[in-house]
Amino acid sequence: MPRLRFSRPDGGPASERETPAAADSAAITLAARPISASDYASSSNEDRDLIAKVQARLVGEPETVAARREADYWPRRIAALVSEQIETLGRPVTERDRTRLTRYAQAELLGLGPLEPLLADDSVSEIMVNGPNQIWVERSGKIELTSATFLNDEHIRRIIDRIISPLGRRCDETTPMVDARLADGSRLNAIIPPLCLNGPTLTIRKFFKKPLGPSDLVARGAATTELIELLRACVLGHLNIVVSGGTGTGKTTILNMLSSFIPDGERIITIENAAELQLQQRHVITLETRPANIEGRGEVAIRDLVVNSLRMRPDRIVIGECRAGEALDMLQAMNTGHDGSMTTLHANTPRDAISRLETMVLMAGLDLPQRAIREQISAAVHVIIQLERLQDGSRKIVKVNELTGMEGDVITMSEIFTFQQQGVREGKVVGKIVPTGIRPRFLEKLQQNGINLPPSVFGFSGRPGA
Ligand SMILES: Nc1ncnc2c1ncn2[C@@H]1O[C@H](COP(=O)(O)OP(=O)(O)OP(=O)(O)O)[C@@H](O)[C@H]1O
Ligand SMILES: [Mg+2]
Repeated sequence: MPRLRFSRPDGGPASERETPAAADSAAITLAARPISASDYASSSNEDRDLIAKVQARLVGEPETVAARREADYWPRRIAALVSEQIETLGRPVTERDRTRLTRYAQAELLGLGPLEPLLADDSVSEIMVNGPNQIWVERSGKIELTSATFLNDEHIRRIIDRIISPLGRRCDETTPMVDARLADGSRLNAIIPPLCLNGPTLTIRKFFKKPLGPSDLVARGAATTELIELLRACVLGHLNIVVSGGTGTGKTTILNMLSSFIPDGERIITIENAAELQLQQRHVITLETRPANIEGRGEVAIRDLVVNSLRMRPDRIVIGECRAGEALDMLQAMNTGHDGSMTTLHANTPRDAISRLETMVLMAGLDLPQRAIREQISAAVHVIIQLERLQDGSRKIVKVNELTGMEGDVITMSEIFTFQQQGVREGKVVGKIVPTGIRPRFLEKLQQNGINLPPSVFGFSGRPGA
């Protein structure tokens, strides 16, 4: 029996489908020579028939030593079988056509089908499949419909399975929602009928080998050099930071940038649902949650990992995203010697972020009084960085707030930086994030840690301590 199996390019019930156990490693080989979107779009029924024949041949082939050892064995084998089929069918093709058919067959039988060209396109940052006939992408912050399509629901289901079955997971009527990662690190969410009425739906957040760094963010107008200087100082000065924003506003990107400022000697523990952070320091422990298995057992949630991380002598704890009760453990960690920790959460304003934190602490189930929760928050969190995706699709830091204490039952904050919009020119938002002129109280803590910022960073003159 061959170890590597191939799925049918022309449909067929899922139960009859064969699992491509090693397809992920073959897909890596493909990435070097991706099929283009236009090549994909120009494939005909005749092409699909030819590929079905290639597939039928492959399924019957025994696994050889070469197949096990050589990473490009299957792509080469497919190329040979495509040529063989062209000869057998006596189909007149140009050299260009032969290459196109080969890449098409490789993408269909080993790769991710019509998603291949989109995954290979660096200008695409997100891919959204809404059933077989609609594939949307995001480019430069704008969402656009592509001409790419799947053949039918089953075609999408096969691609989902190709991604998740090597991970020992499945997506079917009993588990209709799944999160996974592609071989290249991209994050995938799949949800299928009956939960999703428009057919199997995929959302893929592309992974970039080089995440956006401080200079990229300044170049894109997401921050200014002064603001980056401030944020770097906040990280070096061990402030606890919460990055707040709506979905896809760039929270993970900013968290990654902040984490990159952590000095090399510190022991960093990152905790995420799907490891997205890319830290360059040498002393990093990466923890990732685990979903429940098919019997509904074995789940390890963010909260479990936060609790465990406290026994791992962390200098810094970086939590990819707080969604629930882990917020309480995080606040406690921040309050008990692990300052300099950071996380992200979903909220539209810094004030919302505080309410979100309160709600999440309640989800820990300890029945704490509201005032106690607020005191914890105000003692633990020093800075909230607010992100927004503006109407022109650009992602920006729009506020940096400092938590300054409590007045009665209310947590007080002051705005250190705020985005000032001057207008809209040719569809682009014109504006800049500027210091409000307020001298942050945390400067004292920074100074205690030996960090002195030039006063110009805050838009005031004179010595920062003056
Ligand atoms: N300032 C920016 N300019 C341009 N693109 C950006 C910027 N910040 C982030 N991006 C891109 O936007 C996409 C979403 O970013 P990111 O994953 O950081 O968002 P997120 O808020 O963490 O999303 P989610 O809510 O899904 O976790 C990524 O493709 C990222 O590369
Ligand atoms: Mg994120």
